[in-house]
Order: sequence, then C-alpha cells, then structure tokens
Amino acid sequence: MAPTPLTIAVPKGRILKPLAGLLARAGLDPALLLADDRTLIRQITPELRFLLLKPDDVPTYVEYGAADLGVCGRDVLDERASDLYRPLDLGIGKCRMIVAGPVRDGAERSESLRLGQQASLPRIATKYPRTAAAHFARRGIQAEVVYVIGSVELAPITGLAELIVDLVETGATLVQNGLEEREEVARISTMLVANRASFKLRQEMIGPLVARLREATGG
Ligand code: PRP
Repeated sequence: MAPTPLTIAVPKGRILKPLAGLLARAGLDPALLLADDRTLIRQITPELRFLLLKPDDVPTYVEYGAADLGVCGRDVLDERASDLYRPLDLGIGKCRMIVAGPVRDGAERSESLRLGQQASLPRIATKYPRTAAAHFARRGIQAEVVYVIGSVELAPITGLAELIVDLVETGATLVQNGLEEREEVARISTMLVANRASFKLRQEMIGPLVARLREATGG
C-alpha cells in the first residue's frame, strides 16, 4: 500500500502568495497551490499534498494529525495555546499585534498620561480574547474583552468598545478609521508548525523539507 502523502495545512488568503514564493525557492512547484479553483486538497506529488483551510483551522488539523505540518501565524497559535512543535519561522506574513484607540489630541493625550491609564475597566474588542486579556493582565489593567470576528476597527467608532487589539501591517486601516496605535502587544510572523508525533515518525520526509525551507528563508 502506498504511504499517506506528507500533508501540509495552509491558510487560504493573503499569505498564499508569499508562501508560494518561499516554496518555489525551496524547490517545490507552487503552481497547483495557487490554482484558482475550489479544490481543497492540492496534490503536488504522490508524496506531498496541501490542504487549503481557513487560517484559524490550521492548528486544529495539525494538532489532531489530519495534517503533519501547517503554516500558521503566531497570532493564531498564541491565541489557541496550541500544543504544536514550531520548527521554523518562515519569515513571511510579518505584522504586529497592537492596542489601538481613537486618535487623541494633545490635551487628551496628556490627560490620559496624568491619570496613568485609560478609563477604568476599558472595554476591548478583539478577535484575540485570550491574547488581549493576558496583555492587559500583565499591564495590571482590568479590562472587559468583547469578541468580534472581523472589521474590528469599527468597534471604537461605533461605541462597542473604547479600544481594540488587532493586527496592523501598513497602518492604513487604522488611519482610515480615525484610530491610532496605543501600544504593541506582540510581533507576528508566519510559522511552520508540526504535529508532535508526525515530526518524530516522519522525520525522514519532514527533516529535509524543513532544511530546504530554512535555506529558502535565508536562515
Ligand atoms: C487585517 C487586520 C486589520 C488590517 C490591518 O484585517 O485585522 O484590519 O488587516 O492591515 P493594515 O495595517 O495593512 O491596514 P483583514 O484584512 O484580514 O480583514 P478583517 O478585518 O476581516 O480581519
């Protein structure tokens, strides 16, 4: 019986293009991965296939062994506290997780400095409730965290929350919605993750692949 191909869970969306570039540099043909169709399994060679998933589902597939490897942002991994091995930072998808709020004028800024912090018990809207709660707890600030899935920048504009915790890349979304960065929570990049059992049992396939990818990242 033919062995199960090595299975890599990858997120659909904006990371696919830089990932394809990285795979090409590692000697893998990314054409099938980029093909514009609705197939969710992309069989690259008899030994290798990709599963196309929503970014938030990648850790689940890898953790349960439905995929041996996965490509996943640190934001999602930290939020899920997933029990996955992280053999390589792929150096793509770089962005930052930040706290942001409405743009303040000079007087408002010095007022909040004088008071030490924001208003007591600020309400924070975010797609990352665990990460946000941990950040504010570390800062000694009690915060109420409200879970939203997307368009997080709307929350302070509409009064749903005073602040948001979200990803920022160029900063354009913040500016265009009248928001400013208040503090950095974490630096984010895209990681290669591995199922712990697969990483040991399929090392003869995974080891060389990780080495090629590491070389392709310039690391
Ligand atoms: C992400 C993030 C910000 C935006 C930041 O949203 O949540 O909204 O990108 O990028 P920028 O700093 O370059 O403007 P995404 O586009 O993934 O959509 P979402 O709001 O549905 O999460």
